[in-house]
Amino acid sequence: LFGRLERQAPDALLAIIGLHRADPRPGKIDVGVGVYRDATGATPVMRAVKAAEARLLATQDTKSYLGPEGDQRFTDLLAPIALGGALAADGRITGVQTPGGTGALRLAAELIAVADAERAVWIGTPTWPNHAPIFRAAGLTVRTQAYYDAAQSRVDFDAFLAGLTQARAGDVVLLHGCCHNPTGTGFAHHEWAVLAKEIARRGLIPLVDLAYQGLGQGLEEDAAGMHVVLNGVPEAMVAYSCDKNFALYRERVGALWVQADRPAMALPVRENMLVLARSLWSMPPDHGAAIVRTILEEPALTSDWRDELTQMCGRIRSLRAILGAAHPALAPIARQDGLFALLPIGRETVAALRAEHGIYMPDSGRINIAGLNDETVARFVAALLPHLKG
Ligand code: LMR
Repeated sequence: LFGRLERQAPDALLAIIGLHRADPRPGKIDVGVGVYRDATGATPVMRAVKAAEARLLATQDTKSYLGPEGDQRFTDLLAPIALGGALAADGRITGVQTPGGTGALRLAAELIAVADAERAVWIGTPTWPNHAPIFRAAGLTVRTQAYYDAAQSRVDFDAFLAGLTQARAGDVVLLHGCCHNPTGTGFAHHEWAVLAKEIARRGLIPLVDLAYQGLGQGLEEDAAGMHVVLNGVPEAMVAYSCDKNFALYRERVGALWVQADRPAMALPVRENMLVLARSLWSMPPDHGAAIVRTILEEPALTSDWRDELTQMCGRIRSLRAILGAAHPALAPIARQDGLFALLPIGRETVAALRAEHGIYMPDSGRINIAGLNDETVARFVAALLPHLKG
């Protein structure tokens, strides 16, 4: 059996972690994988997370099973933050805990496949390299449409809308809720409104990947576009990750919400999600969700979490301002949101920066802005400038 298997390259993005770690040069810079780092280069456990963990340690009296829905109170408390109060209370929407945002996307993919395996999933390019494999693994067809105009460093909205004209009614459209990965460039407010109308008019189903809420412009602002879409369409899905905004990466905590076209359909949708979750992971891991629940149950912890998240967001924005001011070709970075920006450089330059300066990023030229600090940003810019045009 196993003799039939072919070799597989390691995930190119995750491989950067090991490559950077193995580099002995003291001045090396990691702007690879998307994790928030503070000014010292650490990815700390957030204060509210530490406090919640201390409480859990003192009070948790069982590790017995929950169920395929995970910690339902976690999902219910997170819903108003992700969906807003009105949608969180909407009887058409049902949600379950998942192992991270990837688990949420995979559960969404399986749900689509069970409902109708002929539906294609449309993905704007470029995107997170794991998006297409997740949908393909569920047996779905992935189609792509242009999203980004790299020459102008802006969303190519006309091309994106033109791409939607190729989709059949009932197909799924993947949207990044905020902090687009890898470009940092999202839809403008008026574009979200046009998009919502167009998606509804064509009978398409939006699947919003919301993995960086609070790291762009703020918790409310980062979900505002998605709310416009959810309010404008009958059916939708939201795949949510707490990896970045609660800094819970390895705990694997996320959620999937599905909006049915009428309240009576929410229960069958939910039952199918639970059956699928049972065969995928039986039950999601508890600890991360218990932490988020504990934070959101306690106003003082919630407020401390929000404050620290706002500080993290501010640090990213100030680094963006420094990069944007360094060279005209980098100016768009100051206007973008979230952890990522796509540098206007090719693979050769990426390789040269790695070989000559110990600067690590994927071949796409995507950088994790939070991988820089006040000291390294100057060295980073000095290494990059000779490779920029204009
Ligand atoms: C990234 O894009 O760097 C992050 O989302 C981490 C990952 O899982 O790829």
